[in-house]
Amino acid sequence: MFCVAIDGPAAAGKGTISRAVAEHFGFAHLDTGLLYRAVGAKMMAGVPPVEAAQNLLPQDLDDPDLRGPEVAQAASKVAVIAEVRAALVDFQRAFARRSGGAVMDGRDIGTVICPRAEAKLFVTASAEVRAKRRFQELAAKGLANSLEEVLADVKARDERDMNRAEAPLRPAEDAVLIDTSELDVDAAIAAAIQAVTERGAA
Ligand code: DC
Repeated sequence: MFCVAIDGPAAAGKGTISRAVAEHFGFAHLDTGLLYRAVGAKMMAGVPPVEAAQNLLPQDLDDPDLRGPEVAQAASKVAVIAEVRAALVDFQRAFARRSGGAVMDGRDIGTVICPRAEAKLFVTASAEVRAKRRFQELAAKGLANSLEEVLADVKARDERDMNRAEAPLRPAEDAVLIDTSELDVDAAIAAAIQAVTERGAA
């Protein structure tokens, strides 16, 4: 059992780094943002968020529409609700205890979900760099509006994710900080793998 907790703000590169770390060590990966996105999508469809979180099924995470910017904002909104977060804890903790090792990325993995994770990373970058990356990603899928709108979205989510009462986004005291503002993808992945190796993963 080995748990890697990777937290950080929207579009800092957590997803790319988490997938690469999981592949390198042969661990399973869970993008915990998908849980909140799935609840957000159900809220947009009229289901009360607490009810949606309590009845969430693993297959709800496979919906390709969860990636869009409206769902991201809805996810950030349902994520402030304590009962929504509570309903999602058991699933996440069970994933963390998988025998083959787990990489989990989100906002509160190192602080709340897995405070005893063997390795913790906090991946960040400036809001401008993150917005630019997210804009390019969305534009490639034909989903983006303008860079300004994406930046405003990123800042609104940062604000909500960092200032909520329940499990706010912040680095765990023992997290290794990786600022990807000036790093390319390969360098960011190498830094993450090195940090996880130093915490004892093989
Ligand atoms: O990682 P993401 O952008 O897919 O996450 C979408 C939203 O879900 C994010 O703005 C806040 C919320 N979230 C959370 O509160 N806790 C997590 N562990 C993961 C995501």
